[in-house]
Amino acid sequence: MQLLEERIKADGRVLGDSVLKVDNFLTHQVDYKLMKEIGKQFAETFADAGITKVVTIEASGIAPAVYVAEALDVPMIFAKKSKNITMNEELLTAEVYSFTKQITSTVSISRKFLSPDDKVLIIDDFLANGQAALGLIKIIKEVGADIEGVGIVIEKSFQDGRKSLEDAGYRVVSLARVAKFEDGQVVFAQADA
Ligand code: G4P
Ligand code: NA
Ligand code: NA
Repeated sequence: MQLLEERIKADGRVLGDSVLKVDNFLTHQVDYKLMKEIGKQFAETFADAGITKVVTIEASGIAPAVYVAEALDVPMIFAKKSKNITMNEELLTAEVYSFTKQITSTVSISRKFLSPDDKVLIIDDFLANGQAALGLIKIIKEVGADIEGVGIVIEKSFQDGRKSLEDAGYRVVSLARVAKFEDGQVVFAQADA
């Protein structure tokens, strides 16, 4: 997605040798106009998949996911990282290990929001090692719903998340694919949409 690549070039900051900071349009401050275009692009790409639910994980997945849901006219569900006192229904959970933060967290979704008839599109802001998406996949499979694909805003293609998801049989669509960082600049690989 050209608009997204241009925005990353203009506003993204490379930190160290593997992290891209995009906090002025995606992970902290949110540019809703860009999110709206991202939503339309995923809706177009998955137009024939019969998607009934968009699923993401808090926090930074929520902004793009809600615009994808709007464009597909379906609900968006975000997996929670901590249980709160109102979550007294049956929960579906998965353990997610973060290589970045080196911690394992439990993510959960109330069973009542997913059904075996659902066709789910998973959306996330970043794909690094794929652990977040694999955790969501485990939860969705437990209900017996179909997973039609994984839509990623920014894929770091030098990490193994895409390979893990494709090896597990899932379609991955990334709007920007970072091949590498070179002299503090982002070098893109061909995006999927
Ligand atoms: P994985 O799910 O692909 O295995 O990712 P990993 O554990 O490596 O990443 C942990 C967190 O860091 C995730 O956010 C992920 O979106 C984010 N992340 C990974 N690489 C980058 C990067 O290059 N830049 C930025 N800005 N974020 C990155 P999270 O901890 O789940 O939470 P939240 O920030 O959405 O609340
Ligand atoms: Na994040
Ligand atoms: Na995320």
